[in-house]
This record gives sequence, structure tokens and C-alpha cells, in this order.
Amino acid sequence: MAEQNLLLTPIKIGTKTVPNRFAINAMECCDADADGNPTDSTYARYEKIFEGEAGFINLEAITVQYDYISREHQLSIMPRNEKALAKFVKHLKAINPNNVFVLQLTHSGEISEPHFSKRCRVTETPLYGYEDAELIGADETDKIIDMFVESSKIAHAIGADGVDLKFCHGYLGSQILRPFNSHNWKYGGAWENRRRFAFDMTERVVKEVNDPNFIVGSKVSIFEGFPGGQGTAGPDSSLMDLTESIDLIKGLEERGATYILQSAGSPSHTLALSQTDRKIPDHGYFHHYFQKVCRDNLRPETVVIGSDYTIYRDGKQPFQAVRPEKNTLDFWGNKNIREGIVDMVCLGRQSFADPYVPKKFREGKQGEIKWCTACDNCIEFLIRQEHVGCAVYNKPYTERMKEIRAEKGNLKEKHT
Ligand SMILES: Cc1cc2nc3c(=O)[nH]c(=O)nc-3n(C[C@H](O)[C@H](O)[C@H](O)COP(=O)(O)O)c2cc1C
Ligand code: SF4
Repeated sequence: MAEQNLLLTPIKIGTKTVPNRFAINAMECCDADADGNPTDSTYARYEKIFEGEAGFINLEAITVQYDYISREHQLSIMPRNEKALAKFVKHLKAINPNNVFVLQLTHSGEISEPHFSKRCRVTETPLYGYEDAELIGADETDKIIDMFVESSKIAHAIGADGVDLKFCHGYLGSQILRPFNSHNWKYGGAWENRRRFAFDMTERVVKEVNDPNFIVGSKVSIFEGFPGGQGTAGPDSSLMDLTESIDLIKGLEERGATYILQSAGSPSHTLALSQTDRKIPDHGYFHHYFQKVCRDNLRPETVVIGSDYTIYRDGKQPFQAVRPEKNTLDFWGNKNIREGIVDMVCLGRQSFADPYVPKKFREGKQGEIKWCTACDNCIEFLIRQEHVGCAVYNKPYTERMKEIRAEKGNLKEKHT
């Protein structure tokens, strides 16, 4: 008898059971309107993703405070957006209600883009490269927590299944957590202070939304990969020390988080760690370890969703030391679920190249999947503040990339 494909087995997230172990990662596409509402282009992308049948879908980063944004045309979730977002969620749920659809609430803090936004920082000494960010204190930070809570209530009111409170990738949630936030203040210095932002926010969202069916979880950078980043041993230490990351995920769970979406790195600083570069595909394996750390430290019912699975595709990346058939998405997804390393596998770039991966797996049509080459042209669009899409399989984006490079030359630095 053929072995069951574990990627096609159901799993319970919070109180809801979804039909498979595929998750779609949050992927910003810079195509909202001037108020931060979804446009036709946003609708078109998510319609395909919903048709694609993934069990868990994380909406791209949506800001709780439009004054601090990293992307022009970023989505926003403030009272003014409620009506448009309600229509959007209803439309998508009508396409496929059999998933968990969470909205990734974010605040950019110091990595907001100064050309069209303000920048704020929480560290007395600015992080190198962000000296122009204005220092904010406890009162402003308290108000930001209030905004996350208000946005979560909007998410609940509009029919989303939950929220993903973003504590990863160098955004404000990371800026506060990391050891580099070393001066002593309500949300800084000792770990007990740095974790307060994430813990208080999670506790308040769970309490104030007050619906046991509403899912609260977080995408977390277990290790940011630069001195003083999340998962390092101190403000200027490059050494990996996951003590705080482990305490973070356990504390989130204690306060009601029902999943942790593991990630690593920070696209503004250590991009090749957050999304493995095809020149060094084997760096993808680091994520498996971070997933195992999450799985080993959380209750069995807390779902661990692992990032960075795009790199394996059908085995056709230049991995060394291992046969191609043992380096596919199918292989690693099944092996890591079977061995208790992860519960669900998350697709980021692959969801641009082909949003129908879960459906094609279910139908046994894996041979028809358009595999992401990990060329990273899509992140180039993001870096250049352009609408984002797959420049390999989506012709208008292929053409646009050619135009951009002809006008502006090749990208000089690869980070957001
Ligand atoms: C164009 C682009 C936009 C992204 N937007 C987000 C985002 O909104 N929120 C987030 O947490 N990560 C974002 N990411 C990171 C992905 O969610 C994911 O963590 C990363 O790409 C690794 O997964 P992959 O190897 O499957 O692509 C983005 C990545 C790309 C390439
Ligand atoms: S542009 Fe390249 S990296 Fe991005 S989705 Fe398409 S194939 Fe993948």
C-alpha cells in the first residue's frame, strides 16, 4: 500500500480543523490603494491563493498605523479600512471557507521608509543605518499596543479567523525583543522588559476579542542572524543563544497563541537567512533546526508552521551531498512532519510562482506545478517599491522587470 502523504492530512489550529499541512506565508505585494484598501490586483492574487486550497493563509503584512510604513501602497487595518476589508474577507471566504485565514498585523518602526513615511525607534542608540529614526518612549509604545488590539478587533468583526502578531523580520516587534534594545525602560533592557510588548499585546488581544474561536498566533524570527538581533547572546554578540526565543514562544503560548510560524533572519539586514538564496540552497536546512526547537518547546496542540520551504521544489536546486529526490518539498515536508520537527510547511515565493500547489498535490498533479526558481526577482520588486509578482511565470511582471533594469540598472544591494 502506498504511504499516506502527510502533507495531505488534516490538522487542528485553535478550534478549527483544516484539510492539509500547507500554509501560505505573508507576502507583501504593494498594491493597496492610497487608503491602504485592497485593489483589484490584491483581490486577484488572493482569489488564486484561496482556490489553491492551502489549510492556512497568512495575509501579507497589514499596518496598524499608517504613519509608519515600509512600502508605498501597503495594506492598512484601521477603522477607516473596516468596510473594504470586510468585503474582501467575505469574498475570499466564499471561494474557500476550509482554511484558517489570519491577518498579519505589523508596525514598521525604524524600518519605515523615510521617503514617504516617518521612522521611529525604540533604542537609545540607533541601529546602524537608521540614525534618522525618532526615539519613542513607553507612552507611544503603549499606544501602539492599543492599535494592535483595535486592529485585532476589526479583524474579528470582519470575519477573519484570526491575527498573526508580527514579531519577526526586523519590524517593530523584533526591534523591541532583540538584545540590542539594551537600555533600561518599560520595554527595554532586561529580557523581562523586552518581552513585555509581545506578551501584553497577546494577552490583551485574546482577552479583548474574547472569542475562543478567534485564532491568535505569531510569526517569530527565532534567530535574526546579526549581532544583537533576536536569538543572540547580547546587544553586540553574534553568538546564537535561543534562550529568549524559546521563552518568547512559550510565553506567547501561555497567553493564548495557538500557533507559532517559525522564521529567521530579517530581510532588511540578513535576507538570505529569511529566504534562502539559490546560490546557497543548503542554508534552508537551518530552518529545520529552528522548527524543531519550536516543536520541542511547545504543547503538542500548538501548531508549528515552518518557513522557507520554497527552496526544495522538485529537487532541482544545486544542493550538494544529497540526491535530488531527497531534496524536494514533498520529501522534506513529509519527513519533517513524520519526525515531529514541524506540523505545517509554509510557502512564500512558491505561492507567487504557483498558488495552486496544495490543490495540485491533492489531485496528484505535482508534475504540473510551476516551481519557483528562487531567482528572487519578486523581492527585487519589493525593494524597488514596485507592485510585486512572479517575474518568471507572470508575463506582465517579466516585462516590467526588463523595463526596470533597462531604466535603473541592476540592483546594487539585496535587502529590503
Ligand atoms: C516579495 C516578498 C514579500 C514578503 N512579504 C512578507 C510579509 O508581508 N510578511 C512576512 O512576514 N514575510 C514576508 N516575506 C517573507 C516570506 O513570508 C517568507 O518568510 C520568506 O520568503 C521565506 O519563505 P520562502 O522560502 O517560502 O519564500 C516576503 C517575501 C517576499 C519575497
Ligand atoms: S520571481 Fe523568481 S523567486 Fe519570485 S516567485 Fe517567481 S520564480 Fe520564485
